Amino acid sequence: MVDKAKYIWLDGKLVPWDQAQVHILTHTLHYGLGVFEGIRAYQGHDGRTAIFRLPEHIRRLFDSAHIMQLEIPFAPAAIQQACIDTMRQNEQKEAYLRPLVFIGDGAMGLHPQNNPIRVAIITWVWGAYLGDEGLQKGIRLKTSSHTRHHVNVMMTSAKVVGNYVNSILAKREVTRAGYDEALLLDPTGYVAEASGENVFLVKDGVIKTPPLTTILPGITRDCIFTIAGDLGLPIQEVSIARDELYIADEVFLTGTAAEITPVRELDDRTIGTGSPGPVTKKLQEVYFAAVKGENPKYASWLTYI
Ligand SMILES: Cc1ncc(COP(=O)(O)O)c(C=O)c1O
Repeated sequence: MVDKAKYIWLDGKLVPWDQAQVHILTHTLHYGLGVFEGIRAYQGHDGRTAIFRLPEHIRRLFDSAHIMQLEIPFAPAAIQQACIDTMRQNEQKEAYLRPLVFIGDGAMGLHPQNNPIRVAIITWVWGAYLGDEGLQKGIRLKTSSHTRHHVNVMMTSAKVVGNYVNSILAKREVTRAGYDEALLLDPTGYVAEASGENVFLVKDGVIKTPPLTTILPGITRDCIFTIAGDLGLPIQEVSIARDELYIADEVFLTGTAAEITPVRELDDRTIGTGSPGPVTKKLQEVYFAAVKGENPKYASWLTYI
């Protein structure tokens, strides 16, 4: 259950949580065309709260909307400010922020001309997405029988509401079989991403991750490139076969919700020693210091509220 906050930002106004309602003919509810973001805000040791990589998330929201030909009726700066205002008014020190752009009610059918494009921003407190134990000890990953979308089937660079049906099918399949998270392969059989995270491996000191072909361009993924560069760790974008993950020294997942989660097992094969490896642990250490404002090198990633 999501714990209620005081307000939800809806179409330019903060409205009380329980009053943020939509009509049953809301178009996105029927056909799945909407775009969204997932953002986190963290409290630093100095007590101040900062939203992590806010401009980058809002840029991706507008990119997603552009790809899907949804005209957001606000400027990016207004949506950024709305995220800050919602956090402030909800008096949350840490939260997950969910901007959602959706097609409102009006006409039905697949080509509504004049339905309003609506925007909501919801903030709630959300702990470790794959569990605290998962963050510390690693999770059990399973390759799903569901394939990630082909790029001519869905627009995979966009964070589209309907794209997540594929993620949900994969997640359900593997969690019902007792695993923590699903790995999806692309239509050619190479590793794409997890149901809500990007995937990395470490082998002989080199970090590798699939290129931006069928996957969401993760903002945490982008942080890994910067941090690895700063640590002098070689990093490559290359196609990865599932069995390369089996024999990797380390595997980890990245995402705003999942942060940097080590993988201790894939398809019942132990990864490396079966515990988070030194590269994953170092990246976690630097990442968590960055999100909490403890490393001035990454100060530009923070928007204080
Ligand atoms: C399918 C998918 N891939 C990757 C990611 C990671 O993206 P980010 O690091 O920007 O949260 C997410 C999460 O948003 C996702 O849903």
